[in-house]
Amino acid sequence: MTNRVLMLTASILAENGQSKALADHFIARTEACDGVEVTHRDLVAEELPHLGLAELGSWQVPAEERSDEQRELVARSDALIAELHDHDVIVLAVPMYNLGIPSQLKAWFDRVMRAGVTFRYTENGPQGLVEGKRAVILAARGGQYAGTEKDTQTPHLKLMLGMMGITEVDSVFAEGLNMGGNHRENALKEARQAIDGLVERL
Ligand SMILES: Cc1cc2nc3c(=O)[nH]c(=O)nc-3n(C[C@H](O)[C@H](O)[C@H](O)COP(=O)(O)O)c2cc1C
Repeated sequence: MTNRVLMLTASILAENGQSKALADHFIARTEACDGVEVTHRDLVAEELPHLGLAELGSWQVPAEERSDEQRELVARSDALIAELHDHDVIVLAVPMYNLGIPSQLKAWFDRVMRAGVTFRYTENGPQGLVEGKRAVILAARGGQYAGTEKDTQTPHLKLMLGMMGITEVDSVFAEGLNMGGNHRENALKEARQAIDGLVERL
């Protein structure tokens, strides 16, 4: 049984977010299992800034030559990478905003995807250095996209995870949440059932 789950949430609607509701359901189900510990990181509350040149540049400077500011900037990414390594299952609760992932979640990936640290370039292409993890995507969307080329989120997330070596990825979709009728209720019910099934197999 897996025992350490890192839950990343990124809804700007905070507690009213549907992806947060899915995350809460996932957490409640996993915490009912023996020996499971969940770390929750709210990437909206966290307010990671966009990745900029000073921070990117600080990664290139040898540790013993870094200024105080550079040490602080490197520490931000180092801490998130250490947290990633420290968990067995990475759960991404992902709202769809303007046909993409929330910029807050992208800011997290921009900190943990570090050449030479979580992946390295080889003559055969990038090689992931984060081993032994699996990931789960909990996707909340107003419309319906899963399985079509309009799903810009899942392929992007899988590529980023895969580049770091996380290739075992399950997805749960709650779609059509803003389409009226029974769409929302049915989609959320089916998503909760899918989560129950996943948690049993963790
Ligand atoms: C700023 C914003 C942009 C959105 N853009 C899209 C979109 O492009 N496609 C879509 O299907 N739903 C879109 N929606 C609807 C959200 O995907 C839906 O409300 C979902 O529940 C968001 O997840 P959350 O409730 O966890 O925040 C958008 C919502 C907001 C607030």
